[in-house]
Amino acid sequence: MISPIVRAVQDADIAGAAAALVEVHATDGYPVEGVERPKEWIRSSAVAQAWVAEIDRRIVGHVAVMNSRGEDAVALWHARSASDEAHVGVLARLFVVREARGRAVGETLVRAAMDYARQRSMRLVLDVMTKDAAAIRLYERMGWLAIGRTTHRYGDGRQIAAVCYVSPAG
Ligand SMILES: CC(C)(COP(=O)(O)OP(=O)(O)OC[C@H]1O[C@@H](n2cnc3c(N)ncnc32)[C@H](O)[C@@H]1OP(=O)(O)O)[C@@H](O)C(=O)NCCC(=O)NCCS
Repeated sequence: MISPIVRAVQDADIAGAAAALVEVHATDGYPVEGVERPKEWIRSSAVAQAWVAEIDRRIVGHVAVMNSRGEDAVALWHARSASDEAHVGVLARLFVVREARGRAVGETLVRAAMDYARQRSMRLVLDVMTKDAAAIRLYERMGWLAIGRTTHRYGDGRQIAAVCYVSPAG
């Protein structure tokens, strides 16, 4: 079996990452708001750094560290720490296509984001929908700490419960 490679995203990866995202939306309903413009969603101007996972030259996963844009998870973390804006990043847009799951691709992507943050003395925060149980298990296994709950609002007045986490210190 070919091992997954996790590396910083390049422009040439965007089409493959978008195709993977469309696949994950079909299998898991992630992201809940839909994937009308997958390339734009992946390339959001708030992305500070992103990584892709590749197996046999196919993009099978993705994660990003984003600059904060007033997320509840950021506010929850500020409320319980002395951190400033420059030392907080938002882990987001984590997905792995179903076929590649259960091989630590998700864990390796999250570890790349955590290493990036550690090198910059940053803590990462995130929110995860309570329905996304595999993601919650992954974050908790990697030592992330729950810091509160929030409601994710999207579409035409729809909402869904989410939990906020912060990455472990050190
Ligand atoms: C969450 C998600 C990214 C995890 O991806 P993944 O590549 O399967 O993650 P991992 O392989 O690191 O871990 C998944 C499971 O495989 C297990 N695993 C990892 N490597 C393994 C190995 N070599 N042998 C056996 N099991 C293994 C892990 O222990 C874990 O088990 P668990 O689910 O029972 O806790 C993926 O399920 C996904 O894309 N979900 C939909 C999108 C989503 O919810 N995104 C989160 C947004 S916040």
